[in-house]
This record gives sequence, structure tokens and C-alpha cells, in this order.
Amino acid sequence: MTRNQVGGSRGAARPSDASEGRGAAQRAAAAQDHERPVLEVDDACVTFSRRGAEPVHAVDHISLSMAPGSIVGLVGESGSGKSTLAKCIVGMQPLDSGSIRVNGMDVRQVAKLRGHERAGVVQMVFQDPYSSLNPRMKVGEAIGEVLDTYEDLDGAQRRSSVNELLDLVRLPAGIGDEYPSQLSGGMRQRIAVARCLAARPSLIVADEITSALDVSVQAVVLNLISSLHRELGFSMLFISHNLAAVRYISEDILVMHTGRIVERGNAEAIVRHPRDPYTRSLVSAIPSLDDAGRDVLYDPQWVAKQRRAVDGGEIR
Ligand SMILES: Nc1ncnc2c1ncn2[C@@H]1O[C@H](COP(=O)(O)OP(=O)(O)OP(=O)(O)O)[C@@H](O)[C@H]1O
Ligand SMILES: [Mg+2]
Repeated sequence: MTRNQVGGSRGAARPSDASEGRGAAQRAAAAQDHERPVLEVDDACVTFSRRGAEPVHAVDHISLSMAPGSIVGLVGESGSGKSTLAKCIVGMQPLDSGSIRVNGMDVRQVAKLRGHERAGVVQMVFQDPYSSLNPRMKVGEAIGEVLDTYEDLDGAQRRSSVNELLDLVRLPAGIGDEYPSQLSGGMRQRIAVARCLAARPSLIVADEITSALDVSVQAVVLNLISSLHRELGFSMLFISHNLAAVRYISEDILVMHTGRIVERGNAEAIVRHPRDPYTRSLVSAIPSLDDAGRDVLYDPQWVAKQRRAVDGGEIR
């Protein structure tokens, strides 16, 4: 592990045996080089300048390296530069200087790829799945359209692959015939995750994917991401302003403040013994207790109960 490398110790990279024999599910675990870092950010800088205002150093000399097969958490308060860094990684925001490589390929090269070659490198899941799903397209079609970039499937094969991906995100096959507006926020987010997995990316960047959801549904989505990760072994940069959520899902975290990474390493160690004053302020603000005083994100029985409620259709 290099000086800046995070992630990798939990279930390094390989999809678990649970995915053996699964069709779309198994293939959704992206092909990746198990030696090379899945993400390498080298001295990346982005500054926004506006006339009459101080320039904002949104990404200020950031370097990091992420081992494949890990979920690494990126946490920081609003305006710390998380989304700007995320956009740089997926090629939506150019760097002023520095470089970013995903699975060994410079993001500027990735931008020149087309179709499944491009889709298979890095995918982003956004905070608001409603804006990333076409309101006029049934959700099964939205997933099928991604599968079409890979394979020439006939109608039955396509339906079966779509259903398999829906099953993977714990949704019934019938949901495929519904439109995004007919689904709850949590269900839409699970469709966005299924769509992302259908592209089999080497790296998934998840930017505040639970922030717009009710607390009960947040726990369900976090739980789902965790179990999918155990099953498929994908690589994910999980971004949130919520340290409790990041700690729940990631073994290793990066703490971002005013465009810089101020602390990095094992999540439990950082939460228990934060060294940086900014991290200390985040730790003291973990809002993870529900009305009854239970730790919402860490009570496995509560999470299991919520999950049963979702499976039973009580929470949508
Ligand atoms: N296109 C832009 N033009 C000018 N300034 C920008 C632009 N995008 C972001 N910024 C500024 O860069 C800084 C970092 O913004 P960014 O959205 O990356 O933060 P964030 O950590 O994702 O915040 P949040 O938690 O609210 O999503 C902020 O000061 C923001 O106002
Ligand atoms: Mg953001």
C-alpha cells in the first residue's frame, strides 16, 4: 500500500462465491486488475474564479490512491469540494493541474471512449435519482438500455437480465413496468444502483446517494450497498457529508475540508481518535440516534427489521 492508498483490506476485489453462477449479477462485478489501484489521483487542483470574488480552491492539491474491491468513504461538510472531486473523477469537470487515472487510464483518455468501453470504466450515482432517470421511460427499459450497450440480447434474455438486476437490488420483477414517478425515492435510488451495476464499471462514484432519503430508507440503501459489495466486490468511492453513514459502509475514509484531504485511514480508528481538529468537529456531530435514543445506523436488529419492512412492502 502506498502512502496515500486507502481501501483494500476487506475482501480485496474478488466477487464472493455467492456470485458464482449468477448471470447478470456475476457479470456486474467488473473486470479489474487486482494489483493496480482502481483510482489514482495525483496532485489534482481545481480553482473556481468569479469576478469580484475570492477564488475558490475546490480541489487543492489532492493525491490519493484506492485499492480495487474496496468501498472508500469521502466525508466533509457542504462546500468542502467532494462533488467537484467526484466530477473530476468521472470526467465531468476538467482539472487545472494534476492527473486522475481510473483502472490505469487517464480520465481524459476515458472521455474519448464510446459505448460500453466508456461506461465500463467509471459510473456515478447521484443524490437525486429522479433527475438521472428519464421520466418517460419505464425503469425496466432504463436498465435494459444499459445492457444493450454490451450484448445483443433477444427480448427474453433482456427481460431475464433486467429481472436479475432488479432482484439484486431487492426489487420485484413487476417494478420494471413502472415509471420513475410511480416509485418511492428509495426505490428510484435502487433502480439507479441497478443501472450502474448493469454497466459493470471498474469504479462507482456514489455522491450523497442517501442524503435525500428518509432515515429509515437510508439505512436500507446502505445495507443494500454493503451486501452487494460482499456479493460482487465492486470498487466504490462513497461520498457523504454524514460521517455516520460513511463509517457504516467504508472501512477506510478520507476526510475533506476546504479542498484538501485532512485525514485518511481506517474509519474506526479515525472516529475513535481523530487527529485533525476538523475531523474532531465532524465526530462530535454524528447524528445517528433516532427518537428513541437507539443508534439507527449501528443496531443490526433495527436495520434487519427495516429491511423486512421494505421486502414486505411497508416502506416504499
Ligand atoms: N461550477 C462552479 N462555479 C463556481 N464555484 C463552484 C462551482 N462548483 C462548485 N463551486 C464551489 O466550489 C466549492 C466546493 O463545492 P462542491 O460542490 O464540490 O462541495 P461539496 O463538498 O460537494 O458540497 P455539498 O456537500 O454541499 O454537496 C464550493 O465553495 C462551491 O461553491
Ligand atoms: Mg456535493
